[in-house]
Amino acid sequence: MKLITVIGARPQFIKSAPFSDVFRKEHNEIIIHTGQHYDKNMSDIFFKELSIPEPDYHLGVGSGNHGFQTGRMLEKIEDIILKEKPDGVLVYGDTNSTLAGALAASKLHIPVFHVEAGLRSYHKGMPEEQNRVLTDHISDLLLCPTKTAVENLKKEGITEGVILTGDIMYDTVNRFITISNSLYSKDAWLESLETENEVIPSHLQENEYYLATIHRAENTDDFQKLQIIFSAFEKLDKPVLIPLHPRTRKLIDKLNIKFKNVTIINPVGYLLMLYLTANAYMIVTDSGGLQKEAYFLKTPCTTLRDQTEWIETLENGWNMLSRIEVQTITKTVTRKLDCLKYSQPPLFGDGKAAEYICQAILKREN
Ligand code: UD1
Ligand code: UDP
Repeated sequence: MKLITVIGARPQFIKSAPFSDVFRKEHNEIIIHTGQHYDKNMSDIFFKELSIPEPDYHLGVGSGNHGFQTGRMLEKIEDIILKEKPDGVLVYGDTNSTLAGALAASKLHIPVFHVEAGLRSYHKGMPEEQNRVLTDHISDLLLCPTKTAVENLKKEGITEGVILTGDIMYDTVNRFITISNSLYSKDAWLESLETENEVIPSHLQENEYYLATIHRAENTDDFQKLQIIFSAFEKLDKPVLIPLHPRTRKLIDKLNIKFKNVTIINPVGYLLMLYLTANAYMIVTDSGGLQKEAYFLKTPCTTLRDQTEWIETLENGWNMLSRIEVQTITKTVTRKLDCLKYSQPPLFGDGKAAEYICQAILKREN
């Protein structure tokens, strides 16, 4: 079978690694990298660390407004589909690269396979919600990470082609956690943190820091919100380590102030990120993927959003949502953690999502 996979943003590289590995054993995969993310630490590092095959096409689309970015991708992906004549197009998640890949294929009547189908925040203003709803409604195979996702699709009348596979990020975590632990044990993790002035942040100790990431439009478009988040970080009882997404870095640099209690570093590779996540006291984030990884690695999480698509992580208080108010954030982050219980059986599948996705695609093909 000949499949085109469209990826372009950091979390998509991470999700694609286990699938490419399984699928390529017997089939032909052509990878298109849209170029949505392009900094070394937002793209190349993941291909190297996770042994993701080199993209066959690199569109180099780069940054821009939604219409500009999605439109340029759409045009270029269409050309490649016409040339390559694949049996299907695979897309991951909910970024502009996801929508462009799905739309280009659907208009050419090429089957669309959506990994991470069925997620909903029910907040229509989010670019991610728009991308995932639109993608789901033009997909032929809807590969769902959770039972909730299957139910969400049912509510929208989508039942055909819906398959519960488990979460592919769980596969990735399981594949790479041992390598991460062997690379970054003891002080090696501290020495690997690229701080601004190259000083080793020796005030950080395992299980005694908050690991934070902030990049979602809902928290960065409104500058005031971002200031509230950083003001809350300054008041926390443990140091905050932030591998900062370039979108947020550009905004923070404009402020030109140093925040107390906060160590900002460049985005890190996946292997270091796993180590930092597993060894943090708590994750504080607006990321989708990181909420799950925190859960997989049994690190409590606070999500700086009003809603989450990953409602399973909220069970038993492992993850808690916080509105963007200084007091609410500090109160939620410093909540008592002594009675956390872990749900069994696993809510995100058995770590073999890549195999189930592969089987579902091949079954549909035959
Ligand atoms: C995108 C996704 C978001 C996902 C995130 C993962 C959309 C609409 N949003 O958001 O769902 O959570 O990726 O990280 O697709 N930039 C750089 N270098 C890079 C990449 C981006 O400097 O390599 C800067 C640019 O100034 C750019 C900004 O970050 O304008 C935003 O990048 P963009 O890809 O548009 O959106 P993300 O915030 O990354
Ligand atoms: N991540 C990483 N390095 C970082 C920050 C995040 O490798 O500096 C990983 C993180 O572990 C997770 C993924 O990036 O696997 C999440 O991507 P992101 O938060 O950018 O996007 P989202 O999941 O919100 O769409």
